[in-house]
Amino acid sequence: MMKSHLLLVLLLCVCCLSQPPADVTEQCPERILGNERRRICSKKCLQDEDCASKRQCVCDGQCGLSCVAPGRPCPWPLPPVRHAEVTLLTPSPVFSALLEVRCHPGYTTANGFSTTIRRCQGDRQWSGDEPVCTGGFPAAEPVVEPEIHCPMPIDGLLSVQGSAGADALVHYRCGPGSVLVGHSENFCHENQTWRYPHPICQRVFCPSPVEVDHGYLVAVQKSEYNVNDTIYYLCKKTFLLDGPNQATCQSNGTWSTMPSCRARCPIPAQRSRVIVGGVKRWPYDLTDGMVTHGEKVTFFCKHPEKQCSFTATQTCYDGQLSAPTCYLDPTWFQYKLYPHRLVSEIVSCDPAVLA
Ligand SMILES: *[C@@H]1O[C@H](CO)[C@@H](O)[C@H](O)[C@H]1NC(C)=O
Ligand SMILES: *[C@@H]1O[C@H](CO)[C@@H](O)[C@H](O)[C@H]1NC(C)=O
Repeated sequence: MMKSHLLLVLLLCVCCLSQPPADVTEQCPERILGNERRRICSKKCLQDEDCASKRQCVCDGQCGLSCVAPGRPCPWPLPPVRHAEVTLLTPSPVFSALLEVRCHPGYTTANGFSTTIRRCQGDRQWSGDEPVCTGGFPAAEPVVEPEIHCPMPIDGLLSVQGSAGADALVHYRCGPGSVLVGHSENFCHENQTWRYPHPICQRVFCPSPVEVDHGYLVAVQKSEYNVNDTIYYLCKKTFLLDGPNQATCQSNGTWSTMPSCRARCPIPAQRSRVIVGGVKRWPYDLTDGMVTHGEKVTFFCKHPEKQCSFTATQTCYDGQLSAPTCYLDPTWFQYKLYPHRLVSEIVSCDPAVLA
């Protein structure tokens, strides 16, 4: 049942296809007013007799059956269309001739087709709008060479300056607290390999800080210290801190200046006054008879010929303070019996005498 039905349909189709166009009126669309698209339709007709001489009643697209002079041509050749080839599909550009506008690969017309057919109308114009082929599709773009890049290092501390593209030179830098080990420059070859292996940024540590004699660290001792770690020093009692009270781990893995703890100096004079801190005093009046590191002590010396004194100054350096060579400590006898004749108590020599 189904089969015979199908056969009938097929037969019917073949019949209508093989049938000669019985009447043009059946195939030609009715002229719809207002639908002419900027064209002037010729006189409406049903047969040639309706038209003036040299005109025929033919189907003119949306104008429907119209009186057309068939030999009159449409403009040809047309000005070139950008991104397209324009080809006449019929021998001459006369009425009902067809031309094809084929956009270049990757380009299409506004309606999205790559090809548009235009027909030469009775008004001697090509049907449809002037096609515009627009692109921007991948195939239309110039072929882009895949970019050649050398692999970049994966090291948070290492930074690369310059392009990693082929035939390019780059410079490496290490972040704070690390030093570069290896080549600081590199070159990316065409085959996407580097001339040298990437360098390494090695973290910088400072070793445990050295002990300071007569001092101690005011910090938690660690086995290694990072750059910028700071430690503090204190000196033991009676010792004077010489230098900064702190040391910092430097970017090259060394400690900044370490302080020293300097000892006080005993004054090598007992039975004669000295000048300490601008004050003339007996050594035993000073704490422990000592002066601190760096302090100046002025001694009184006796002129070899005159009964007058002159001074000589020495400086305490880390427990070492020697009396000037001209100084002679009075004997206990002199000190006890003739205190006013002690070298620190007699008159000062006239500067002229010393000159
Ligand atoms: C150390 O301190 C200096 C100055 O404050 C700074 O520039 C540097 O980045 C620091 N380094 C580290 C490893 O923190
Ligand atoms: C480490 O760096 C400091 C300051 O930048 C410098 O004074 C010292 O000489 C350097 N030490 C070494 C061993 O390079």
